[in-house]
Amino acid sequence: MILCIPDILTPSQTQEARSLLESANWIDGKITAGHQAAQAKDNSQLPVQHPIALEVGRTIVSALQSNPLFISASLPLQILPPMFNRYSIGQQFKTHVDNAVRTVPGTGHRIRTDLSCTLFFAEPDEYDGGELVIEDTYGTKSVKLPAGHMVLYPSTSLHHVTPITRGTRLCSFFWLQSMIRSDEQRAILFDLDLAIQRLGRDLPDQLSAAQSAVQLTGVYHNLIRQWAEM
Ligand code: NI
Repeated sequence: MILCIPDILTPSQTQEARSLLESANWIDGKITAGHQAAQAKDNSQLPVQHPIALEVGRTIVSALQSNPLFISASLPLQILPPMFNRYSIGQQFKTHVDNAVRTVPGTGHRIRTDLSCTLFFAEPDEYDGGELVIEDTYGTKSVKLPAGHMVLYPSTSLHHVTPITRGTRLCSFFWLQSMIRSDEQRAILFDLDLAIQRLGRDLPDQLSAAQSAVQLTGVYHNLIRQWAEM
């Protein structure tokens, strides 16, 4: 499942983060890529432990933790600290797959990358190219979102970033391990959760609808009990 989530950050959070990021010293992005990805990658990144990366990263993670759509779609077990990349004219990231396992910086603790996230900091009309193209089982999807919005997609997907022909693309990217390893099971739970919420909204005063909602909520949690890994 590929999901675009609007307004992860408010416009003022986005603007503040962007000013901080633009003031930082960036390094060659190949440093954090796996062997195969390093051949394909041409961009700049902030060092993982850069104070600005840590600060903006905390803002993002805290916003994610209070975003119901993100929680429902990803059912996160652990979110890796957000990283940041910048693509200038001529830069791109050719087709690659992300590493399956990553170490949480400074801890030695490893997580499995189930979902990849890209959060945009520049508006789409500020640059040409720079689409994130994701190969899903249902076909290819090209993503370029307004500043403050984020796309969530399975880390199993092949993907690439098209060459920049004007302006600069500035994003945060990171991974998470979900409590639900299977993309299909996670999609079922997301559908069920949305349907339960809709039931409550559409039929707020009907006792039978409320009883159904409670029963379905039970089904939802029982499926999580069946499927969750921690
Ligand atoms: Ni990637």
